[in-house]
Amino acid sequence: MKILAVETSCDETSAAIVVEGTQVLSHVLASSSNLFEETGGVVPEVAARKQLEYIIPIIDKALGDAKIPVENIDFFAVTVGPGLLGSLLVGVDAVKMLSLIYEKPIIPVNHLLGHIYSVFIQNYLGQQIQNGIPKFPLLVLVVSGGHTDLILMKDFLKIEYLGGTQDDAVGEAFDKVARVLDIERYLGGAKLSKIAESFEGVSNISLPRPMIGTDDFNFSFSGLKTAVIRLNEELENQPSPRHPEEERSDNEGSSVSVITADIAHEFEQAVVDVLVAKTKRAVQEYKPKSLAIVGGVSANRVLRKRVIEEFNDIDVFIPPVILCTDNAAMIGSAAYYLKDLATTNLSKINADSSLNLEKVFN
Ligand code: KG4
Ligand code: ZN
Repeated sequence: MKILAVETSCDETSAAIVVEGTQVLSHVLASSSNLFEETGGVVPEVAARKQLEYIIPIIDKALGDAKIPVENIDFFAVTVGPGLLGSLLVGVDAVKMLSLIYEKPIIPVNHLLGHIYSVFIQNYLGQQIQNGIPKFPLLVLVVSGGHTDLILMKDFLKIEYLGGTQDDAVGEAFDKVARVLDIERYLGGAKLSKIAESFEGVSNISLPRPMIGTDDFNFSFSGLKTAVIRLNEELENQPSPRHPEEERSDNEGSSVSVITADIAHEFEQAVVDVLVAKTKRAVQEYKPKSLAIVGGVSANRVLRKRVIEEFNDIDVFIPPVILCTDNAAMIGSAAYYLKDLATTNLSKINADSSLNLEKVFN
């Protein structure tokens, strides 16, 4: 079963051809995130206008790279939410148009399910990427810009929500801290992590680990973010807090102060400590056969390393970095398992920017 999948929920435009939910034959992705460095946040209309420009060439390239004519595609799949309405509409309407012209059904996919099913992808552009497939019950930690959730998959489509963030999502906290520390104004998680890695000294800083010991599977990151803002303000108000002699280079060559690297390092450690502790609690309680970490923040090197080290008696699955952040391949994988939703009735396929967890799990 060959699926042409499209994902346009935020500032990326992506298309992929996925076979049987597990093999990615082609994957094309364009991001307009560089446009939002100056504004420090995505401007929805600007993002959607770029996506309108990119969408057809990207779909064409995905078909061309896979050497599959559109007539040989069995289903189209598209992210219907959550996300930015204008952005979602670009993908949804492009796929509706294709469905009408080529008379193929559409499978609507929730973005969050896309992240979850990314872990079932076995082969990416001809390369085997997983050793084996996750077994049920499968515990999934979803960590992205919009979500921080612990989920138990008892089977395909049998998904139980265990807990999630009460305030900021973990990626959102990374991005806000990166902005406060002047590391990057938009989507600074990856850059913050690189700077944290450059810190070599012994730290005197101690940040809170919110909700680390609570008897549940919930998270909270806004207090940690506020603690970083306060600490940064205090240090800025000290005389010569960021002395030029104390500059250190991250591995891309840009220089940051030791203090910035120290705060970034401690922040990352605090986040990873909380994520690992809550995941451990869920492992103890539900005794899953496999554990998966998905979503943009699962690209984080410290998190990946800690999870592999700490959960050595259960099978751990973390997708390659390209499948952690938003991409159409994961939508093609989820669509395979959601194929009962396929329809040629175009009025049933609608973008819904607020497609929330309740709608996913019921
Ligand atoms: O899943 P994703 O691409 O988009 C959403 O669905 O939200 O996740 C994006 C988030 C952003 O907050 C970004 O800063 C964060 O993932 N991120 C990282 C890393 N790479 C991406 N956070 C920490 N470390 C990274 N290496
Ligand atoms: Zn995402």
